[in-house]
Amino acid sequence: MDYTHRFIPAPQSPPARVLLLLHGTGGNEDDMIPLGRDLDPAAALLSPRGNVLENGMPRFFRRLAEGVFDEEDVIRRAHELADFVTAAAAQYQFDPQRVTAVGYSNGANVAAAVLLLRPGVLSRAVLFRAMVPLVPPSPPDLAGTRVLISSGKYDPIVPLENAGRLATMLRQSGADVTARVEDAGHELTHGDTAAAKNWLRESQGDARTPNPV
Ligand code: MLT
Repeated sequence: MDYTHRFIPAPQSPPARVLLLLHGTGGNEDDMIPLGRDLDPAAALLSPRGNVLENGMPRFFRRLAEGVFDEEDVIRRAHELADFVTAAAAQYQFDPQRVTAVGYSNGANVAAAVLLLRPGVLSRAVLFRAMVPLVPPSPPDLAGTRVLISSGKYDPIVPLENAGRLATMLRQSGADVTARVEDAGHELTHGDTAAAKNWLRESQGDARTPNPV
């Protein structure tokens, strides 16, 4: 498998749910573990470290400047990450249909790229401070996919308008999108995590074991 990563099994095997945790710029495979545990104590956690280095800081794809992405690399890395999820499902013996991505900032952007380029790999995604990673060559079919986009009203890195375009793009592809705005900047707040917990519980659908709060 092509990523340095951590996998933490669920208390119950096989896991009812798996959270794919995707850190922001400068993070690593450890950063999102406490958040994942808090969001869903019954889930298995799969947490890769981004394969691209920017001045020593791990990321999930290259950028040319802040908010300006190297589109070729976005495409390559989105496929790499999608393949990693499939390989991890085989290795750790979980159902790939049960994977929910939880991404922050650059991690949210790569999750959005996987949604747009590899529909079917992620059935649900929580995107904190996400923006449009690229415009796909053809619209994907995202019917049955659920997405929460949680944006910061005063985010200096992700303009609200850009997060809104991502929501529209995903909705036009058939995804069920909940978009919310937090009274915050780029950093995560309690409001973000509380909203994500509720959304995860409500969007479980046919899934599985109750999620203790
Ligand atoms: C990105 O590069 O993906 C976004 O600008 C967010 C960030 O990582 O700062």
